[in-house]
Amino acid sequence: MKILVTGGAGFIGGNFVHYMVEKYPEDEIVNLDLLTYAGNLETLKPVEGRSNYHFVRGDISDRPFIMELFEKEGFDIVVNFAAESHVDRSIEEPEAFVKTNVLGTQVLLDASRKYGVKRYHQVSTDEVYGDLPLDRPDLFFTEETPLHTSSPYSSSKASADLFVLAYYRTYGLPVTISRCSNNYGPYHFPEKLIPLIISRALADEELPVYGKGENIRDWLYVSDHCEAIDLIIRKGRVGEVYNVGGHNERTNLQVVKTILAILEKPESLIRFVADRPGHDRRYAINPEKLERELGWKPKYTFELGIRQTIRWYLEHKEWWQHILSGEYEQYFEKMYGNRM
Ligand code: NAD
Ligand code: DAU
Repeated sequence: MKILVTGGAGFIGGNFVHYMVEKYPEDEIVNLDLLTYAGNLETLKPVEGRSNYHFVRGDISDRPFIMELFEKEGFDIVVNFAAESHVDRSIEEPEAFVKTNVLGTQVLLDASRKYGVKRYHQVSTDEVYGDLPLDRPDLFFTEETPLHTSSPYSSSKASADLFVLAYYRTYGLPVTISRCSNNYGPYHFPEKLIPLIISRALADEELPVYGKGENIRDWLYVSDHCEAIDLIIRKGRVGEVYNVGGHNERTNLQVVKTILAILEKPESLIRFVADRPGHDRRYAINPEKLERELGWKPKYTFELGIRQTIRWYLEHKEWWQHILSGEYEQYFEKMYGNRM
């Protein structure tokens, strides 16, 4: 089988490429990525030169390029990770999120339809459900929870999901969607909470925590997400949405303090800064459908996954230190300069 993975030079897509190239030597994996600020070919070094893998640089919203690629390659399966993924950036500059996340998805859907792709899988997010109140721990997102977005990022992802479902209903395109909670693990770009805290704590720098640090995220180790997507594209029912999450809810302050304790760094590094506008309070996934229908079970608890992640960042300093120079420094100054 020939599988197109888009966004495979990013965090989750990169981990998925590693997983697929290793697990399915008989399949051919094509990784299409535009290499935006978030794309990094260093992430793909472990699979470079493998006979069942190759990389193509390009934009999922570039229709003539995508049509030509699909005609040439004849993909059986498409897994779309490519996206603008950072909520804070979407608040600053929403337009790129519409172009890549909405238009890019629609271009891929058209190409999948025209060239007879057997399965189109959309990697979506729990953020499409909006948020849950902090004082109702009994509530969880199910696949029936109405879409109710907060940020330009989540709005663009929800729009894309609606297009995917429309292509199933209107044209019969065989689609599936996964909606996962917050991922963490190797190759996570250091603009996101966990790698940002690890890299800054190691340098004894101030750690920005939004608001009071009370917001809750439901953390999943990235390889558990990759296994879920693999199951869904092979065994999931066409036209269906599957939630992915492992019941690892933590407040942001708990996450930061856990990292500091493992690194033996002082809590005095923490700085409470101005809150994110529209900040979602709590995410919490009910993954029962995925467990019941496809037998998925996460392998990592948060305690195990966070230790493994920290070890990876300690052993791969060159990967993230390359990123933390140049353009990233300007980004940090722009986003945090007047908040700390
Ligand atoms: P990321 O930002 O690390 O990677 C995104 C990748 O997409 C980058 O390599 C980038 O170069 C590429 N890309 C961006 N625009 C492109 C375009 N127009 N054409 C081709 N490639 C393009 O993101 P991530 O955290 O790995 O997230 C991957 C997917 O998973 C996204 O769709 C995101 O919405 C979803 N998701 C992420 C999380 C999470 O916690 N990170 C959780 C659930 C779902
Ligand atoms: O839930 C899935 C989503 O998780 C994905 O769809 C997104 O692509 C991904 O970026 C992530 O979104 P979040 O906004 O939850 O992740 P982020 O790492 O940006 O922030 C996690 C929490 O930490 C959030 O409540 C905001 C807070 N935060 C974040 C940063 C960057 C801080 O307190 N300080 C920070 O400096």
